[in-house]
Amino acid sequence: MVSGLFIALAASSYAAAQSFVSDPLIDKVVPYTAIPYQVDQHTADRGPQHGYNICNSTTEGQSSLCQTGFVNHLDDFCLFAPPELSTIGDTEGIEVAYCTKPGRGTRLIPEGTFKGVQLVKSPGYIQIVGFIDQTKLNIQQGDFGGELDSGGQDGRGNPIGGLVYSNNLPGSSGNDSFVQSRHWTFFIGGDQFCLKVCDSSNPNAGHLCEHIYDRIGCAYNAPNNAQQNVFESCEGEDMMPVGTYVSGGQTLTWTQPPEGVEPVPPYTPTPAASSNCVSFQSESLFAAIASVTASVSESASASTITSTNSNGQPTTITRSVSSSARGSGSGTASAAGAANTNDGVRAMGISIVAGVSGVLLSALVFA
Ligand SMILES: *[C@@H]1O[C@H](CO)[C@@H](O)[C@H](O)[C@H]1NC(C)=O
Ligand SMILES: *[C@@H]1O[C@H](CO)[C@@H](O)[C@H](O)[C@H]1NC(C)=O
Repeated sequence: MVSGLFIALAASSYAAAQSFVSDPLIDKVVPYTAIPYQVDQHTADRGPQHGYNICNSTTEGQSSLCQTGFVNHLDDFCLFAPPELSTIGDTEGIEVAYCTKPGRGTRLIPEGTFKGVQLVKSPGYIQIVGFIDQTKLNIQQGDFGGELDSGGQDGRGNPIGGLVYSNNLPGSSGNDSFVQSRHWTFFIGGDQFCLKVCDSSNPNAGHLCEHIYDRIGCAYNAPNNAQQNVFESCEGEDMMPVGTYVSGGQTLTWTQPPEGVEPVPPYTPTPAASSNCVSFQSESLFAAIASVTASVSESASASTITSTNSNGQPTTITRSVSSSARGSGSGTASAAGAANTNDGVRAMGISIVAGVSGVLLSALVFA
């Protein structure tokens, strides 16, 4: 399960002194029929929005800078990833949409990117978790990535001005009817991703799509039963908001410590109960991108950080939950290849790198 692993960082909560805007992205109600060219009009601090939100046939293709994404169904969703080969940390503000379906003015996700994807639709959100070859999405090999979300260190979102819509959340009246999700989180890196788009009309949306736990990765932010080489769509219950857990009959809340202090959550995350999982062949799901090739494969192999590959990197991605636990909500979050530690998770390595703007980023590997 993607849980076991690592991650993350993301600069969201501790980037330097960028002032918080008075009109945060999370508050911008933008009907699908009234999307502006750029939803973010700020220019200070992190600069202007890198791409645009009006996306159409003239913007479609592998150089698109479309920053409007969709999360609809197992065969129909987008990820945010770098416009050019990079790390997520270095480009969190300028990521662009890569989608499984043409026709929306975005880049397309290249064939062979997905190695297993699980969608869970709950009352409050759609969650999609998967294994990927991230080099096909312009993410450097070995980058453990981080969190992109509709919050961000200054309220402008990561990417700045990123909008997300769905035709599969309450309020939609069919596949041609898109509702905005104003609360969403996307973790990507370490050859995995997990995303959650919450129903903004749900009073609990802010908690179900909490975005302040950026250093504890998919295991905690999107507890799941995703498996390598399995493509399935499930129904499920809402997760307990990240950071909350039950101990001794009481619901407690753990908060991620400040940068510099290793985040060690005092609980083991458990996927919410899921049911009615239906499996598919990836070829049938992603036929629309069968001929899309990664334009950056050559640069990916030229990366100077491939040495991280030789020991710790995604070789640790193995599923540790037995198949009988799938869908039962009984999965655990041990990391791959290692026995569960009694505290659920342990940070095995922390690397600190400097982002373009001097933002400190840390990547964690849990074992
Ligand atoms: C297509 O999208 C581009 C980029 O956002 C925009 O400049 C252009 O006006 C759009 N065209 C139409 C017909 O909407
Ligand atoms: C909506 O799209 C999904 C695939 O993305 C498809 O499975 C479903 O049948 C569509 N619904 C309708 C009513 O066409």
